[in-house]
Amino acid sequence: MNLFLTGATGFLGGKLIKNLLQDKQNEVFIIVRNVVKAETLRDSFAPSEQRRVHIFQGDITSPMAGLSSDDIEWLTGKIDAVYHLAALVKFDQDLRDELFAANYEGTKHILELATELNARKFYYVSTAYTVGTLQHGVEELYPTDGTFNNPYEESKVKSEHLVSSYRDQMEVSIFRPAIIVGDSKTGEADSQFTLYGFMRALSVFKRKTARKNIENRKYRLLAAKNGTSNLVPVDYVADILSLAPQKAEKDKIYHITNPNPPTNAELLQMLKDALEFQNLSVVECSDEHLDEEEIRLNSLIDVFKVYLAGDLSFDDGNTQELIRGTDVRHLAMPEETVKMIIRAGYKVPEKSKI
Ligand SMILES: NC(=O)c1ccc[n+]([C@@H]2O[C@H](COP(=O)([O-])OP(=O)(O)OC[C@H]3O[C@@H](n4cnc5c(N)ncnc54)[C@H](OP(=O)(O)O)[C@@H]3O)[C@@H](O)[C@H]2O)c1
Repeated sequence: MNLFLTGATGFLGGKLIKNLLQDKQNEVFIIVRNVVKAETLRDSFAPSEQRRVHIFQGDITSPMAGLSSDDIEWLTGKIDAVYHLAALVKFDQDLRDELFAANYEGTKHILELATELNARKFYYVSTAYTVGTLQHGVEELYPTDGTFNNPYEESKVKSEHLVSSYRDQMEVSIFRPAIIVGDSKTGEADSQFTLYGFMRALSVFKRKTARKNIENRKYRLLAAKNGTSNLVPVDYVADILSLAPQKAEKDKIYHITNPNPPTNAELLQMLKDALEFQNLSVVECSDEHLDEEEIRLNSLIDVFKVYLAGDLSFDDGNTQELIRGTDVRHLAMPEETVKMIIRAGYKVPEKSKI
């Protein structure tokens, strides 16, 4: 198949392209902002795979992603399916304009491009957190006037509706991963955001407090202890996306979520262990009176807090149906795997495991 990808130089895209190239029949066409980064990625593949990667420079915030009319003409009629992954994955309120430019306008430009290229299928990678402030996620579109925790979620909900409005032009399916973390076998993760942004913030805080050298000082972190953190390994997400051309049904939404996620208390204990920062304690999001240092700690992780505040659950019946009869097993992520992924994220050698 001829597959067109945006976001190939990202965390998920890097894993997905590798998967797609394993099928020798696949040619992959990628649109990237940074050609050098894309060439480095391509050079990491086997020579027979490198020949099947075709790099185009572009930017999804421009109409037709900035492709030249020659490129568009050359690609027209060749593309079987488009995977649209490129996005700005940040949760800050003050990035609203940038988030809508990349995530909403960017999706519009890729839909227009896919239509121009006569692509037959379109796979949009959204997020399970389009659920917004609801407690239970369903594999259906949510209203665009719902309540959202941040402009990232809102931009993704609105983009899903936009994608769905193209269903007469091509077959569209939407995939909604939860919080993507490292590989379930190696822990490897090429990400600075979501869980990794949170981990980095804790690490920075630990470094700063270590300088003050106050023993037995506890720092309270606000979270819903029994709430869950819905972590999914990047290889599971990429494996499911790779099945899309054969198995995805049009107009369907697929949750790529963890049916048995760790609680926030468990996750934070694992983070404390990996970071060797036992002075951290977790308290319920209540009216605890925090001191100045604790306020600083909690503000460092402010953008992630909504994801530690509740106990969400997600239907994933469509995904279970999609993987039925394939080599991909429904996700079961034991505590040991989560620990290994966290340790790999902090680059703690496995031999020094507690
Ligand atoms: N990470 C998660 O936990 C998570 C969870 C649920 C859903 N998702 C969704 O999964 C998708 C991939 O996420 P990720 O974690 O792989 O993100 P990522 O590592 O930040 O990668 C984002 C990709 O999008 C590209 N991109 C961003 N803006 C672009 C632009 N204007 N033009 C062209 N390319 C642009 C980036 O290119 P550069 O290399 O040039 O920066 C990069 O390849 C996103 O749609 C995200 O919303 C992610």
